[in-house]
Amino acid sequence: MESKITAIAVYTPSNRITNEYFEQFIETNNEWIISRTGIKERRFADKNEFTSDLCVKAAQNLLAENPGTSFNDVDFILVATTSADQVMPSMASQIQNRLNIQNCGCLDIMAACAGFVYGLILAKGMIASGTHKKVLVFGAEALSKFTDFHDRTSCILFGDGAGVALVEPSERSKIFNAVTGSDGSHGKDLYLSQHASVINGEAIESNGKIHQNGKVVFKWAIQTVSVKVKELLAKNSLTLDDLDWIILHSANMRIIEGVAAEIGAPMDKMLSSIEYFGNTSSASIPLAWNIAKNAGKIKPGNKILMLGFGGGLTFAGVIIEA
Ligand code: COA
Repeated sequence: MESKITAIAVYTPSNRITNEYFEQFIETNNEWIISRTGIKERRFADKNEFTSDLCVKAAQNLLAENPGTSFNDVDFILVATTSADQVMPSMASQIQNRLNIQNCGCLDIMAACAGFVYGLILAKGMIASGTHKKVLVFGAEALSKFTDFHDRTSCILFGDGAGVALVEPSERSKIFNAVTGSDGSHGKDLYLSQHASVINGEAIESNGKIHQNGKVVFKWAIQTVSVKVKELLAKNSLTLDDLDWIILHSANMRIIEGVAAEIGAPMDKMLSSIEYFGNTSSASIPLAWNIAKNAGKIKPGNKILMLGFGGGLTFAGVIIEA
């Protein structure tokens, strides 16, 4: 059985955080943040708003924006997140309950900023195997709850938000071949640990906040993503000209520009959510999709390459038809 994305929607908290906000408590400024990251503002969840709340609101938006769509026969929920409300129960199980979806498998995916694309790949596999027919894939984060606001190199980057895609059977495949991979030797270059204080046998600080070696991740991202985009195109017997849009994880505008230069793609093919939402990890790709959809850019039949990358360090890429 082939599959396709039949709907996509997002939710972002209303609390807008401009770059000037950070000037109150760290040595930074609007110009540095914009020039080094491309970020103008981001959203932060309220004190009592958590990742599961953002997911439920994104799902409600999906229903509101797609009349005739129902979650009655959804048979699996996948939630990609690095910032779950708690470790157990899963976000997926809470969403199942709050959306009142019965007879539904539930699973959270821990693949950091690559999680949403991993979710699409898993949903495609479930439908292909014939075990499931209607899968909700969320990418959602409340990263502000895990941000170290004393660390000026990382706190200016992150934002909160949620996206959700509905994946269903299709007569013709609209979710094509994928690439996935990981380099766990870089584990301590980007981590969030609440308990264990070693990664790969090396001591780390485990204070429940995000730690990042920005320079190492930056270099790894440009090199790895450039190679994997080319590999993904080859795996699908496509060229850059066959793609209408490329959505890389929005970690930093300079990473997107670096990869575009490396693969020879024009910047007007690159979609992102970095400018107004910052780095929202697993939510960044659906947020970028939604911005482009609202701007009238993404049209039915468009071919879109999506590639997420981040903590692991891991990556996942897939080409889809809108
Ligand atoms: N405001 C002002 N100055 C800052 C700053 C801030 N918020 N953060 C760092 N600086 C300073 C540094 O201290 C350094 O000063 P120094 O030269 O006196 O030591 C200078 O700016 C340059 O720092 P550097 O770390 O080289 O900046 P950068 O250009 O590499 O940008 C990141 C830093 C974090 C924005 C960038 O490395 C990055 O985006 N990395 C990857 C992020 C990523 O992909 N994350 C996750 C993938 S999911």
